[in-house]
Amino acid sequence: MPEMSFQIRPGRDDDRLPLAVQFAAVAEERDGIASEPPVDIQARAASWTLDGTLVAVAGSEIVGSLHIERSTHGFGEIGMAVAREWRGRGVGSALLAAAIEWARERGLHKLSLSVFAHNAAAIALYRKFGFVEEGRRVKHYRRESGELWDALEMGLLL
Ligand SMILES: CC(C)(COP(=O)(O)OP(=O)(O)OC[C@H]1O[C@@H](n2cnc3c(N)ncnc32)[C@H](O)[C@@H]1OP(=O)(O)O)[C@@H](O)C(=O)NCCC(=O)NCCS
Repeated sequence: MPEMSFQIRPGRDDDRLPLAVQFAAVAEERDGIASEPPVDIQARAASWTLDGTLVAVAGSEIVGSLHIERSTHGFGEIGMAVAREWRGRGVGSALLAAAIEWARERGLHKLSLSVFAHNAAAIALYRKFGFVEEGRRVKHYRRESGELWDALEMGLLL
């Protein structure tokens, strides 16, 4: 039986490599996140900012992560991903709920993010937690395919 339950905890040093491996796998999908292959896994692992990183773990496996990049202006910018086989099981919701709590505890007044305009799953997740659309960056991201993708800017006042 595969592990079905998961928990959320802060990222720690020995998460670096699995976080980078998971990031590379999501980049391979060329769909939800801005990065595309190739991802330099060792460099990504070494440069991962653990402060503001929350991980979802099932057994000893990292099944999702979220990073809040704290600005000096009171807001935090979110990036997140869940392992493909774990999507639709509440991992993203649990990570986002923990991120909102993390941000409130540290006195941030707002969380913000960019999401590709076609990313229905992510947009539904963010709306569920009260994020609202604040703008659209038209043909903002040039993909390796040559396509130009729109991104929505979303924000949540805390
Ligand atoms: C976006 C992502 C993080 C969501 O994580 P998840 O663990 O699947 O999310 P959850 O299971 O908690 O679902 C949250 C909500 O999203 C919605 N949702 C989930 N999958 C969906 C889908 N395929 N289509 C539409 N809505 C969907 C549901 O409304 C769900 O709410 P509910 O629990 O009340 O039904 C995940 O799909 C992912 O990692 N995608 C690839 C990377 C990515 O796109 N990152 C975000 C970049 S901005």
